[in-house]
Amino acid sequence: MALIQDEKKKAVAKAAIDEIKHDMVIGLGSGTTITYLLQELAQRVKEGLSIQGIPSSKKTEKLAIKLNIPLAGFSEIKQLDIAIDGADEIDEHLHLLKGGGGSLVREKIVASTAKKLVIIADDSKSVKQLGAFPLPIEVVPFGWEATARKLAALGAKSVLRKNNGKVFVSDNGNYILDCTFDNISQPQALHENIKQLVGVVETGLFVGMADKVIFAGHDGITVHQR
Ligand code: 5RP
Repeated sequence: MALIQDEKKKAVAKAAIDEIKHDMVIGLGSGTTITYLLQELAQRVKEGLSIQGIPSSKKTEKLAIKLNIPLAGFSEIKQLDIAIDGADEIDEHLHLLKGGGGSLVREKIVASTAKKLVIIADDSKSVKQLGAFPLPIEVVPFGWEATARKLAALGAKSVLRKNNGKVFVSDNGNYILDCTFDNISQPQALHENIKQLVGVVETGLFVGMADKVIFAGHDGITVHQR
């Protein structure tokens, strides 16, 4: 099962590489699917493709450096040509739930600065409605318990993310609350309500941001455009 899902991730990364053209500045997402994309991209760079990447996490940055993918930063780049990222859930309107890897803030900054956001995923990420996967919300560590109580008033059951028994700390030095809601029928409204809470940095809801989603399934590659 895991192997089949892995093969789909590899296949979709291969399919997405055609989105990348000479001289582009590319937002590099985070997660295992993106790891495969970086490997493909590194091969193209080796063959002479000239690009610059802006990584959306320290993990992605580290791997890109190891693979000799040229990187840039927001001090010199105003707009990205494209951002390519994974997702934890994708609904039929191409709204996304992201942040399973804890990189949602940087991923959203990168995606919001790109002319085009392309999401790559295996077909297990396709859902009718967002919310079966707990929604990651990045919060300031100070008073996170108070923030969790405010989220509870919005209907969230939240769990402080831990890794090997220790509190998970994001690349930005913050905590992640993984939140379950009865349903997420109106993702934009929910995102806005959560964003208003003091202590919340960002939510993992990416509503109306994806321009294209490329899925890999048993029968091959399918493309959904906004
Ligand atoms: C990380 C993310 C990832 O894009 C998401 O978790 C998908 O990861 P994977 O490709 O490993 O399934 O949002 O914050």
